[in-house]
Amino acid sequence: MDKIIFSGVQPSGTPSLGNYLGAFKQFPKFEEAHKVYLCVVDEHAITVRQKPEDLHHNTLAIAAWYLASGINPNVSTIFIQSHVPAHTQLGWMLSTLTYMGELERMTQYKDKSQKKAENLNAGLFTYPALMAADILLYDTHAVPVGEDQKQHLELARNLAIRFNNAFGDTFVVPEFMAPPAGARVRDLQNPEKKMSKSEPGPGTILLTDTPQEAAKKIKRAQTDNEARIVYDPENQAGISNLLEILAACTNRTPQQAVMEFEGQQYGALKAAVAESVVFALEDIQAKYKSYMDDKAELTRILREGSEKANTHAEKTLNRVKDKLGFVIPFSA
Ligand code: TRP
Repeated sequence: MDKIIFSGVQPSGTPSLGNYLGAFKQFPKFEEAHKVYLCVVDEHAITVRQKPEDLHHNTLAIAAWYLASGINPNVSTIFIQSHVPAHTQLGWMLSTLTYMGELERMTQYKDKSQKKAENLNAGLFTYPALMAADILLYDTHAVPVGEDQKQHLELARNLAIRFNNAFGDTFVVPEFMAPPAGARVRDLQNPEKKMSKSEPGPGTILLTDTPQEAAKKIKRAQTDNEARIVYDPENQAGISNLLEILAACTNRTPQQAVMEFEGQQYGALKAAVAESVVFALEDIQAKYKSYMDDKAELTRILREGSEKANTHAEKTLNRVKDKLGFVIPFSA
């Protein structure tokens, strides 16, 4: 049986170049050897207040960006979380196995609760149990996520093990999967932090930026006074980030990309990065537009995705209900 990969993306805001290089672009490669589930997690997104029309648009847009990145919907399953009721159902069941202390320790919760003190809702707190449900419903073997999600994934693993120990073998215990180059795209103005889509600024390239805007941001990217192009994220974070972006756009490692710049100046590196980013953006934006302009096709793909997802998720959910002692719904 093919190994199963699951990942979720929040439909909040417009995806950044970092999201594209670190995540979206990696998925078509996974399709060769894995069964891929890609979920647009609208139920997660509402833990932060969303404007309904934005949430609606962003949910379809995220799906279109994934498809534009080359995910093949005939091979992979791409769907919207709220189209598969089993997510919230299993999320509830898992929340009864999750300890308050475990949730209180979550770094993302601690961060968000400081920033969003005015809307410190219960969903923000129990979010990791829902994320565990997302993953465990599909017998997932591996979850490709950034470092910032590692703690949530660890909880999903612990819940799977806890459930299996208490009620008998039910869940596959998922593994963390470190994404390859491009996973660590940093903010162009502040390479200490990751290129965020939730707080876009002059150091963020959004996938909707025009190629000219993107090129301008790259030309203004923060560098340093070392005047040498080496891949050394510790000491030359800005330069290393540019190399990381170039490498990801051109399907190389940063160590390979750096070789062509020996003895060259920062301007040459920036020009090469800008060129490769513009090339990537033009390609993906054209494909994105073709999906957004054909909503009938987009919704057909998402409907088929939710049918496939529901079939798998229902099976897992019934297994869980049975183990818990729930009476399985009577069929006619
Ligand atoms: N929490 C993830 C994020 O904020 C999104 C997410 C939800 C997810 N469910 C998931 C990622 C399941 C991987 C697997 O980015």
